[in-house]
Parts: sequence; C-alpha cells; structure tokens
Amino acid sequence: MSKQFDVVVIGGGPGGYIAAIRAAQLGFNAACIDEWKNDKGGPAPGGTCTNVGCIPSKALLQSSEHFEHAGHGFADHGISMNDLKIDIAKMIGRKDSVVKQNNDGILYLFKKNKVTFFHGRGSFVAAKDGAYEVKVAGATEETITAKHVIVATGSNARQLPGAPFDEVNILSNDGALRIPAVPKKLGVIGSGVIGLEMGSVWRRLGAEVTILEALPAFLGAADESVAKEAAKVFKKQGLNIELGVKISGVENGKSGVTVKYTDAKGAEQSLAVDKLIVSIGRVANTIGLNPEAVGLKLDERGAVVVDDECKTNLPNVWAIGDVVRGPMLAHKAEEEGVAVAERIAGQHGHVNFNTIPWVIYTSPEIAWVGKTEQQLKADGVAYKAGQFPFLANGRARALGDTTGFVKFLADAKTDEILGVHIIGPMASELISEAVVAMEFKASAEDIARICHAHPSLSEATKEAALAVDKRTLNF
Ligand code: FAD
Ligand code: NAI
Repeated sequence: MSKQFDVVVIGGGPGGYIAAIRAAQLGFNAACIDEWKNDKGGPAPGGTCTNVGCIPSKALLQSSEHFEHAGHGFADHGISMNDLKIDIAKMIGRKDSVVKQNNDGILYLFKKNKVTFFHGRGSFVAAKDGAYEVKVAGATEETITAKHVIVATGSNARQLPGAPFDEVNILSNDGALRIPAVPKKLGVIGSGVIGLEMGSVWRRLGAEVTILEALPAFLGAADESVAKEAAKVFKKQGLNIELGVKISGVENGKSGVTVKYTDAKGAEQSLAVDKLIVSIGRVANTIGLNPEAVGLKLDERGAVVVDDECKTNLPNVWAIGDVVRGPMLAHKAEEEGVAVAERIAGQHGHVNFNTIPWVIYTSPEIAWVGKTEQQLKADGVAYKAGQFPFLANGRARALGDTTGFVKFLADAKTDEILGVHIIGPMASELISEAVVAMEFKASAEDIARICHAHPSLSEATKEAALAVDKRTLNF
C-alpha cells in the first residue's frame, strides 16, 4: 500500500517548505517533495530563493559591497588599503557555503517538525476516493497518497526570444550568480530587481555595466521620487541604464555577445559585451507536475489559477507562491504557505496583500510598503506627504552613508499611513516598522509619538512621520 499523508506539498521553496512545517505543527501527517539537486546530486531544498535567488544574491551583494567600501569608502575613515584584490573563486565558494547552510537548515527543520521529505519530482497521477495519488520520481520511484495537496512549484527565468540561456555567455539568475571572473563588459536586459542587484554586484567588482530597459520610465513600481533618486545615484555609481529600448537581436558568439537594439530616439544601436544577463521577469513553473492528470486549471501564462484563499479549481488542492498570481517574493510565498496550512486545519489563515514589503538590495537599499504617491493620485485619494533626508540623521552621518530619505504618505483626513518609501542605508530593516504600523492601521502621528533610539537610522522614520504634520525637529 502506498504511503498516505494528510498534506503533501510539491515544491520545497520558501512557500512549500514553510507550508509543510506549518501543516506538521498543526498536527497533520505532512510531506514535502522537492527535486532541487546540489552539485553532488543530493537534496538542496529551499527552491529558487535559497539556491539561485534571495540568499546567494545577498551573499554576493555583501562581498561586493565590502570590496567597494575597502576600495572607496575606507579612506574617509583614515584606513588605507594597498594592493586591494578580490578572489572571485573564494567569493563564489563562500556564497555556495551560505547556500548549503540554508539547505541543511531546511532538512534539519523537516526532521525537527516530523515532515517526511522526498527528494525527486512530484507529479499528479490521479484523483481517487477523495484523495490524490502523487508520483515521486527521484533516485527511486514511488506513489504516495494525499488528502490535501499544496502546489508550490515556483517559477523560472523568462527567456528572451532568440537568446536562449547557455549560462556561459547568456545568463539567467543562475549563471549571473556564478560568473567565474569579473567580465570587462557586462550587459543586462531588464532594469528590474535582478538587473539592478546583479548589475550592482558586478559593477562593484569592476565590470562596465550597461542595462537595457524596454520601458521609458525607470523603476515604475516604486514611488516616483524614490525612482528619481535611485536613477541619479546609480548613474553616479557608474551603472549605465538606457530606457525605452527595443531589442532587435542577440548574437551569441565565441568571444561574447552582441545585442542589437533601437534606442529611445529610434536609432539603431549595437552593444558588445563579454556576458549578458537576461532579467526580464519570471514565469510560473508547472513543468513535470502533470496537472492534466487531475484537471488542475492553469491560466494562459501557465500559472495555477487560484482564488483569494489559494484554492484551485480542485477540492483540497491549493497553490501558493510564484506559481500563482501576485508578487513573486519569498515572504509572500511563505505567508501564503502558512495561511493555506491554517485553512486546511479549519482556521482563518490570512495574507494582507496591502502590507507586503518590497526591498531592492542595491546600495542605497530601496524599500517600500503600501501605496505610492502616483497610485494615490490615480485613485483620487486625498493624502499628506512627509519626507526626511538621511543627510540630517546623526547615525547616517556617523556611518558615512547619507544618501536618500524616508517618505510617509498618510490619509489627509484620518492620518492613517497609506504608504512608506525608503531609499537609503538599511532600508530593508527600517521598512519593518512601517509594515507593523500599517498592519495595526497606525497613523503618522502614532509613529511620530513613539520613542526611537538615538542615534539610529530609525529616527529618520520618526522624523518623516513628523514631516507629515510639517513639524520635523532635526530638519
Ligand atoms: P521556488 O523558490 O521557485 O521553489 C520551488 C521549488 O519547487 C524548487 O525547489 C523546484 O525545484 C521545486 N519543484 C518544481 N516543480 C517540482 C516538481 N514537480 N516536483 C518537485 N519539486 C518541484 N524574493 C524576495 O522576497 N527577496 C529577495 O531578496 C529575492 N531575491 C531574489 C533574487 C533572485 C536572483 C531571484 C531569481 C529571485 C529572488 N526573489 C526574492 C524571489 C524569490 O526567490 C521567489 O519569490 C521565491 O523563491 C518563490 O518561492 P516558491 O516557494 O513559490 O518557489
Ligand atoms: P522584474 O519584473 O523585476 O523586471 C523585469 C524588467 O525587465 C522590467 O523592468 C521590464 O520592463 C523589463 N523587460 C521586460 N522585457 C524586456 C525586454 N524585452 N527588453 C528590455 N527590458 C525588458 O523581473 P526580474 O528582475 O527578472 O526579477 C524577477 C522577479 O524576481 C522580480 O519581479 C521579483 O519578484 C523577484 N526578485 C525579487 C528580489 C527582491 O525582492 N529583492 C530580487 C530579485 C528578484
């Protein structure tokens, strides 16, 4: 008889492994199937996020930031560096070991929470007697049965037509995280999150980076004032960003890649680079899942169709994370995983899409939650704005990192916080206060009246809240 489970999760990324752990915490007999292999063929749970996404990119961002500080920032502190060098192989090796610590951590968490882990590909076989048969194809093959199935199969990088990834010259996020030597010239197609983060890594290490973006506006999802500041700073750092381009062809030759494109003025251009990163978004992944076997409904882009509660068209089949609608973010996937496990247990799991933070880990970091000023204008909402620059923050001055600002948007009548936008040092950490405030429906005045430690970057948050009422104390 096949092994039987209450809940089987297909996919062990941040959505899937967290869903399996929460299901087990709630008393279910839970299993998680994940096919990712490490370089020795062993299991590497954690999905895109752990293996070729959030974690390794932040490891390289940290290494490259240290290098840049050592080369350009230390002198101001009276620290001199002679003969600065970077060992790329060591940097990549460190990143790989950070990834492995996370893979091993998840395997440990499965054991701790009594989640059964299967290393292999999970695919639907049939729906039978109120349950689902799922085949696991790994080193061995077996079929297991589940009352509830959570699909968490994630996403893959979108290819540019006519420019397939070879991960040698034309790189997805995977190849972009393991370039063996700093390319002299690096091209990036797409100035979204990956383009900016990976472009920053390799620029800091010495590459001449050109980013080609189709849209005429830079960072359209961010608040316009943040996008404007970011464009100014990135340009000064040496990131060459061309907007409004139309790629007409990509030639992958022996000595590098040539990109042909029409620029914003309509002129034909050609860019020759040693390596090309293509980061033009990601597509939902259901390869090998065999959704047809049970009639699982996908949309025209291949994403699993779900309602607000992550229910699919099939009873007791749920889907979460990058494989469904909504932002492709690890923390969104995790929140959906927890909510679905709780719904299966008859509880009221909930994900508040209005308070999902966004972070871009460039330098300066960019982070926001809630509405942008342009969205509020478009929605006809009456609002007040308050802004405070890091230039006037004592801790930022001591750090030597005074770029950027914190900006609050609050309802003109009720003062409820509608959005917070930060560009500056440690924006990724500072944004949490705004998320908590918005989750509790706080007003700007609430934040303005809370005691913030001195000297700290968070005082800029308090001051931006005060600025909503035009009563900053330090600016
Ligand atoms: P995934 O992480 O993609 O995991 C899906 C897993 O399912 C994979 O392990 C896959 O092998 C497995 N799988 C697929 N099909 C099957 C099958 N049939 N059987 C068994 N296993 C299967 N997000 C952030 O929030 N912050 C960041 O800083 C951030 N940085 C990123 C940097 C990069 C370079 C990239 C590419 C992405 C980044 N993201 C970041 C996005 C984040 O990685 C994704 O949103 C997140 O991983 C989605 O989680 P998931 O669980 O839905 O899917
Ligand atoms: P993205 O959606 O962030 O950006 C893609 C960019 O490519 C857009 O600006 C788009 O206009 C542009 N583009 C699309 N087609 C193009 C074309 N043919 N020519 C030129 N430009 C084109 O996607 P990206 O950077 O690939 O990242 C995928 C997702 O991964 C992100 O949306 C995000 O959800 C996640 N991610 C999150 C990170 C974080 O939270 N810090 C870091 C990296 C990725």
